[in-house]
Amino acid sequence: MEQIKLGDSGLECSRIGLGTWAIGGWQWGGTDEGQAIATIYAAIDHGITLIDTAPIYGLGRAEELCGNALASGHLREHVLIATKCGLSWDGKQVYRDSRPSTLRRELEQSLRRLRTEVIDVYQVHWPDLQTPIDETAVTLEAFRREGKIRAIGVSNCSPEQMDAFRAVAPLASVQPPYNLFERDIERDVLPYATHEGLAVLAYGALCRGLLSGRLGPETRFGDDEIRHVDPKFHGRRYQQYLAAVEDLRALARQRFSVSVLALAVRWVLDQGASVALWGARRPEQLDPIGAMEGWQLDDDARAAIDDILIRHIPDPLAPSFLEPPRIRSPP
Ligand SMILES: NC(=O)c1ccc[n+]([C@@H]2O[C@H](COP(=O)([O-])OP(=O)(O)OC[C@H]3O[C@@H](n4cnc5c(N)ncnc54)[C@H](OP(=O)(O)O)[C@@H]3O)[C@@H](O)[C@H]2O)c1
Repeated sequence: MEQIKLGDSGLECSRIGLGTWAIGGWQWGGTDEGQAIATIYAAIDHGITLIDTAPIYGLGRAEELCGNALASGHLREHVLIATKCGLSWDGKQVYRDSRPSTLRRELEQSLRRLRTEVIDVYQVHWPDLQTPIDETAVTLEAFRREGKIRAIGVSNCSPEQMDAFRAVAPLASVQPPYNLFERDIERDVLPYATHEGLAVLAYGALCRGLLSGRLGPETRFGDDEIRHVDPKFHGRRYQQYLAAVEDLRALARQRFSVSVLALAVRWVLDQGASVALWGARRPEQLDPIGAMEGWQLDDDARAAIDDILIRHIPDPLAPSFLEPPRIRSPP
C-alpha cells in the first residue's frame, strides 16, 4: 500500500483511507453493526492505516463502532484515527458550532466513543461562520498542546480560511470533496494545499457510489438516504452521470484492465490528493483495493477521461447539498 506523510505533523498513513459515514447508518439507510466492524477489520487487513470518522456519522454511532472494533481487536496502534468537530445536532437538525466550550465537550465525547487517549487528526468539519476562525485555531492548538490530539485538520475550507487558521496554529491536512465528477478544488484548494505542503484527504472518492460501477437506472434510494437528496441521482442528471460511468468503465477495461471503481480511486490519487477516502460498510466492498496499486494514469488516459466527462456532463453539479446551514440554530 502506498504511504504518505500528513503535512509536517510527523504522521504517516496509507494513501487509501476508510470512510465511515455509511457505517454510522444515518442518511445511508441504516447500518449492520456486525458488517461494519468486519469492514474495519478488513480495511486493516488490506493495509489501510487511516480511518476517517465524525461525531455526526450516525449521531455518534460510527465513532462508537470504530472505537469498539479497534479496542476489541487490540488494533488501536495500527491505525490513525481522523475524526472531526464543529457540527452539532438537535434531534436530526445539524448545525455548525465551533464555540470553544462546544469543541471541548465534543473532544471529550469523541475520546470516550473512540475508546482512545488521543485523536491522531482532529478536523474542523465545516467552518462555523459565527465563530472567528482564529478562535477555533486557538482552541484546537490548546488540545494539541495538551496531548489530546496529534495533528489538526480542516474540512470544507477555502484557502482564505486556511490562511487565517494557519496564522495561529499549524494545519496538517484539509479534507475537501474530490472525485471524477466533483472537481471544484482544482481551482483553489488543491493548488493551495500542494504549494503549502498540506495533506489533502479527498472525500467521496466514489461520488457516493456513483463511480462504483454498481448503480444502474433501476437503482432506487430510500427517503432517508443522502443520495435521495443528491441531485446527481435524479432524472436527466442521473442518466448523464450513468452514461459517463459506462464510458469510463470501457476505458478502464481497455487501457488498464481494471474496474471503473479502481480507475476512479487511482485518478483521485494521481491528480495529487494525498489520500482517497473510500466509504465502505461491508468487508467485500474493499476487495478491489489491490487493483489500485502498481499502475498510474498517463497523459493520454487523463485526456480521454476529460473528454468523456465534458461530453456527458457539460455542467457538473457541485456537492453543495452537503453543506449545513450557515447560520447557527439553535443558538
Ligand atoms: N468532511 C466532509 O464533509 C465529508 C463529507 C462526505 C464524506 N466524508 C468522508 O469521506 C468518506 C467517503 O465518502 P462517502 O462515504 O460519502 O462516499 P464514497 O466513498 O464516494 O462512496 C461510498 C459508497 O460507495 C459504495 N461502494 C463502496 N465500495 C464499493 C464497491 N466495492 N462496490 C460497490 N459499491 C461500493 C457504497 O455504497 P453502498 O454501501 O450503498 O453500496 C459506499 O457506501 C466518508 O465515509 C467520510 O469519512 C467527509
